[in-house]
Amino acid sequence: MSVPEKVVQVCEELIISDETLRRVMDALDHEINLGLGKETNSSATVKCFPTYVRCLPNGQEKGKFLALDLGGTNFRVLLIDLEGGSTTAKMVSKIYAVPTAVMVGPGDGLFDHIAQCLSTFMHEHKVENVKIPLGFTFSFPCRQEGLTKGILVTWTKGFNCSGVEGKDVVLMLQEAIRRRGDVEIDVLAVLNDTTGTLMACAYKNQDCRIGLIIGTGTNACYIEKLDKVELWNEDHNEPKQVIINTEWGAFGDNKCLDFIYTGYDREVDETSINPGKQIFEKMISGMYMGDIAGLVLRKLTREGHIFRGNGADEIFKRGAFHTKYISEIEGDKVGDWTNCRQILLEELGIPEPVTDQDCIVVRHVCEVVSRRAAHLVSAGLACLLNKIGEKKAVVAVDGSVYRFHPCFHNLMTAAIQKLVNPDMKFDLMLSEDGSGRGAALVAAVASRTASD
Ligand code: GLC
Repeated sequence: MSVPEKVVQVCEELIISDETLRRVMDALDHEINLGLGKETNSSATVKCFPTYVRCLPNGQEKGKFLALDLGGTNFRVLLIDLEGGSTTAKMVSKIYAVPTAVMVGPGDGLFDHIAQCLSTFMHEHKVENVKIPLGFTFSFPCRQEGLTKGILVTWTKGFNCSGVEGKDVVLMLQEAIRRRGDVEIDVLAVLNDTTGTLMACAYKNQDCRIGLIIGTGTNACYIEKLDKVELWNEDHNEPKQVIINTEWGAFGDNKCLDFIYTGYDREVDETSINPGKQIFEKMISGMYMGDIAGLVLRKLTREGHIFRGNGADEIFKRGAFHTKYISEIEGDKVGDWTNCRQILLEELGIPEPVTDQDCIVVRHVCEVVSRRAAHLVSAGLACLLNKIGEKKAVVAVDGSVYRFHPCFHNLMTAAIQKLVNPDMKFDLMLSEDGSGRGAALVAAVASRTASD
């Protein structure tokens, strides 16, 4: 049994050739240069924010740190003990849900929620009377004006709290803590999750140059030489480099990716909370990938290619086909449809019988959609690796899609190999829990370099 020709044809527009991926690389390189330029930054879509993080950890960082991690549907508080000289860190953490009402409610409500979770955590761990240095991982596009000042430019990933865009999120956090008055904090750094991921990996591996997230959203940061960052208004002392948060999720917002855009992408975008924004992210990340597959499956059902044409609209309600199903379906051994059947019958409620032929088609759709995402991220990475231009570089990666998809890592490695300059060696390293450990490390490096 094989994938019917008609299905192959429907899916074809989602397959991107190497040649087209090279066009994507060139376009991204162009947009990044616009982002880094003094004159061009204000109108650029790929914002390339300097993070003010210039020193990497040297492995000797020590001490207790608090970290806050906000960037998806969960919020985490961590207490981390860096031991200096050891590559592991002791940590305790707790996850708190961010209710949807808070995600789209007033900004003060969000920061009150964060402050409340932090206070509860500090009381539980009996550190409410200690002023512990804190790193705040806030994974949204922020224009930084220093290590402890981050102005939110725009919400992404389903957040839309009023009264935060244009404001300094560190100040909003400090005000919320002051309103409570039961704990004190000492914020040493605000950072993006990509920066945390890079730092957590650099703690163990000196060759780390890029931090990448493929989770609810996607984004990458990389170490750039100061003389290439026209935007940089501060000193040019050693180290003559700074981590740039590219915010590549917004790549394509000026329509420069129209040559790969499909009707499915348009539908996902138009029904999202932020239409016209985060175009690259919406083709790749976990918040949207399941929906894209769901839309393709709906079309194939409507055209009668699967499930005997039954139930397209009820079954593929928007948001019903989760990204994790793609990982689970592709996790089945070829020819074994255990996960696939379970998802179709039990989770989505497709009426029996689900045939092997149906499963073949469903898997094909998942593969095409996840490969497109992996290939687009790879084009982005190859562009950054070529920009860095060193003989070897390690890429620190985190995020649910990278972690849980059975072959994302291998797909990426193979694709980057084809796209990157031939003399360059690279490694993709899972950097677990970068947004937590990375926040402690940025705070630790900041306090170390301040006292140097
Ligand atoms: C979104 C955010 C970005 C973050 C990424 C991964 O793209 O705008 O700041 O790094 O998601 O979480």
